[in-house]
Amino acid sequence: MSYRKIVVAGGGVLGSQIAFQSAYCGFDVTIWLRSEGSITRTQPKLDNWEKAYISDIESMSSGSGSWCYGLGDDDGTFDKDKAIANVRKAHSSIKLECDLAKAVKDADLIIESMAEDKNQKISFYKMLAPLMDEKTVLVTNSSTLLPSMFAKYTGRPEKYLSLHFANLIWKYNTAEVMVQDKTDQKYFKEVIDFANDIRMVALPVMKEKSGYLLNSLLVPLLLSALDLYVSGVSDPKSVDTAWKKGTGAPAGPFEILDVVGLQTAYNIVSQYQKVPKLINPILRKMLMPYNFKAQLQTLGKYLEEGKLGKSSGEGFYKY
Ligand SMILES: NC(=O)c1ccc[n+]([C@@H]2O[C@H](COP(=O)([O-])OP(=O)(O)OC[C@H]3O[C@@H](n4cnc5c(N)ncnc54)[C@H](O)[C@@H]3O)[C@@H](O)[C@H]2O)c1
Repeated sequence: MSYRKIVVAGGGVLGSQIAFQSAYCGFDVTIWLRSEGSITRTQPKLDNWEKAYISDIESMSSGSGSWCYGLGDDDGTFDKDKAIANVRKAHSSIKLECDLAKAVKDADLIIESMAEDKNQKISFYKMLAPLMDEKTVLVTNSSTLLPSMFAKYTGRPEKYLSLHFANLIWKYNTAEVMVQDKTDQKYFKEVIDFANDIRMVALPVMKEKSGYLLNSLLVPLLLSALDLYVSGVSDPKSVDTAWKKGTGAPAGPFEILDVVGLQTAYNIVSQYQKVPKLINPILRKMLMPYNFKAQLQTLGKYLEEGKLGKSSGEGFYKY
């Protein structure tokens, strides 16, 4: 391990998981929070992850649940009692700190996981820049904002890049590691090593790319599927069957949309309709003939009927 002290800025859904997983893997972890109020919101999330980790460890151990690669090797070395003790130790070791200078002192890596708001992130980087030690590497977990938008505010563009996790990181343990054009390769490699150290599968993204790897593939697939439906070409079940039988994939686009949630799908389509330049130029040529208005109407109708996807018991399918 080349890093020791990890600081996570923001203790929301993802920040609290990143902190927990890093502590589970033996790192010294501090979460920086902007107020005492944030502490009362973050603490229950950590309590919740402790329960979720233990429940998954028990299911893995009894063979009743799917394997979580973020929690243990499947080579027979997994020790249930040791893993549970490790979860408890991780939970109690995480420090919550509201003083930014104190939080980041001597940090090897700072992971910014604050709300997806460009201006708030810029203000944070400006406040942080003079406080960091020379050695500190800084990454963002932003899903939709590119690191090149922020590099100049960090005071260390060569040590700044993206480290993007998926929700429920101990189960869906991919970490997309993406440079911006000023990132030094040395720190790109270090962050890939760190991602592996916290039991993620590190996926290098060697050029800055909106959507990283997964969403660059997934979003066009989902939009194409929706368009086949709203333009009356076919129905969700037939589209899913075509995809599954034709490629051997375990889930079709409408099954995936139900898992992602129809509200998120609505937000993405709505964003593309309002700001088409968010889509890269080649894809734009392909996607712009799509009827985004009809997609929004169809998704809106499902939402009005309370069909939010798998989480509500019904979306394109009933559960
Ligand atoms: N939720 C996901 O599935 C997911 C997946 C991958 C990446 N991300 C990214 O992770 C980041 C955080 O997302 P989240 O889902 O955890 O959000 P969240 O809303 O759950 O948490 C945001 C955190 O940021 C803090 N915050 C907001 N404004 C702040 C400010 N001005 N100063 C200091 N702290 C501030 C909040 O108090 C909260 O702790 C975003 O950039 C998002 O794109 C989210």
